[in-house]
Amino acid sequence: MRPTSPPKTYRVKSFGCQMNVYDGERMAELLDAQGIVPAADGDDADLVVLNTCHIREKAVDRVYSDIGRLRRDDGSSPLIAVAGCVAQAEGDEIMRRVPAVSMVVGPQAYHRLPGMLDEAVAGRRSVDTDMPAATKFDVLPARRKVAASAFLTVQEGCDKFCTYCVVPYTRGSEISRPFADLIAEAERLVGAGAKEITLLGQNVNAWTGEDAKGRGVGLDGLIRSLAQIADLRRIRYTTSHPNDMTEGLLIAHAEVEKLMPFLHLPVQSGSDRVLKAMNRSHSVASYLKVLGRARAIRPDIALSGDFIVGFPGETEAEFAETIALVEQVGYAQCFSFKYSPRPGTPAATMDSQIALEVMDERLQRLQAALQKSSLAFNQTSVGRTCEVLVDRLGRREGQWLGKSPWLQSVHFMGEAAIGDVVSVELTEAGPNSLAGRLIAR
Ligand code: SAH
Ligand code: SF4
Ligand code: F3S
Repeated sequence: MRPTSPPKTYRVKSFGCQMNVYDGERMAELLDAQGIVPAADGDDADLVVLNTCHIREKAVDRVYSDIGRLRRDDGSSPLIAVAGCVAQAEGDEIMRRVPAVSMVVGPQAYHRLPGMLDEAVAGRRSVDTDMPAATKFDVLPARRKVAASAFLTVQEGCDKFCTYCVVPYTRGSEISRPFADLIAEAERLVGAGAKEITLLGQNVNAWTGEDAKGRGVGLDGLIRSLAQIADLRRIRYTTSHPNDMTEGLLIAHAEVEKLMPFLHLPVQSGSDRVLKAMNRSHSVASYLKVLGRARAIRPDIALSGDFIVGFPGETEAEFAETIALVEQVGYAQCFSFKYSPRPGTPAATMDSQIALEVMDERLQRLQAALQKSSLAFNQTSVGRTCEVLVDRLGRREGQWLGKSPWLQSVHFMGEAAIGDVVSVELTEAGPNSLAGRLIAR
């Protein structure tokens, strides 16, 4: 039986990218505004929002098993909403298969969640996977208390249509949020305690808008304006597409002190043939040119990327080109994935899909190369003193965790608090983190 009394407590579980996490925060704020409160850790919630991701693997299966696990010993379930990119792609199917689900809501429609909730309590199920022209951002409640490092979605959607990717279908076409709205939201985030803001977009560097004087600006213009917010200490952005990288944005890395020396620029493969089959619309050479420019402008910049191994037809020699690229670039940290055929994308029906064992083995080799690269990068930081934004308590008594300007995880002992920007000497490097010594608070 689905519940029919208004929920008092909720839990939002986010499974996807940073934008999905941002959406999860905004849905939580919407529910707060309805007077529903977050369920305490370990407690059952009256309402569960599964904020799903469709990018890889058996995303849909995972949703079904998660829903199954929500059933309580007495046979009852909480009110269940399926949100996020799986909701967008498979909403009707989920409704058909799982009677326990009351609401299915896509990433562009979740501002309508409160109305759907009223319907659900009245026993009516609803699906909303619209991509309305008026954006959800105009009607969402203001930001509430936030972490030291906060996300801010500035751009959504994608028009690139890489042949393996579901994002253009689940998130729709590219839109940029208006400049003034973003400045206002950033000010509210900083007012609520954020010291760092990461600007988010599926192609964040494609953001364009008009500044306060009506001049057309790109992401670098937005960043320069955000840097004027006095209590904001750090600005980051992700994810960028190589083709949308502008000289202005690269130069901002040298001129805007608050813009951190970190560039996440996915390349996916080191083979031009594979890049073409992926419809990436950049070559290895054009990608390397952007990285070269970034390093010329900001020599200490930390580079990051995404890789896919086992794209249909990828040969051993083509894979070797990916390894060679990794060795050439010297990345600070990267994400790497096995190719996952996504329903409805062109690559899913291409000939010569690669066997899972081959993908496993290639992923292992790639990750070994990436680990080596990260370790080498981190080792070059040893001996440096840098600012660390403290974001968490460590596992040991008196230990703190935070991020260096180069997005390295740093742990150190001493007096500090979450949200502090402290001075730390980096003393020891591993592939995934560094140890440091607190110099000054
Ligand atoms: N817009 C960003 C990436 C969004 S998806 C960009 O183009 O860079 C994040 C990453 O997931 C991608 O960079 C890619 O490496 C990976 N990815 C996307 N679709 C995938 C698929 N079908 N199989 C495996 N990895 C995939
Ligand atoms: Fe997906 Fe390509 Fe768009 Fe990135 S650029 S979201 S990988 S289609
Ligand atoms: Fe996943 Fe959707 Fe983000 S598919 S990666 S949650 S845009």
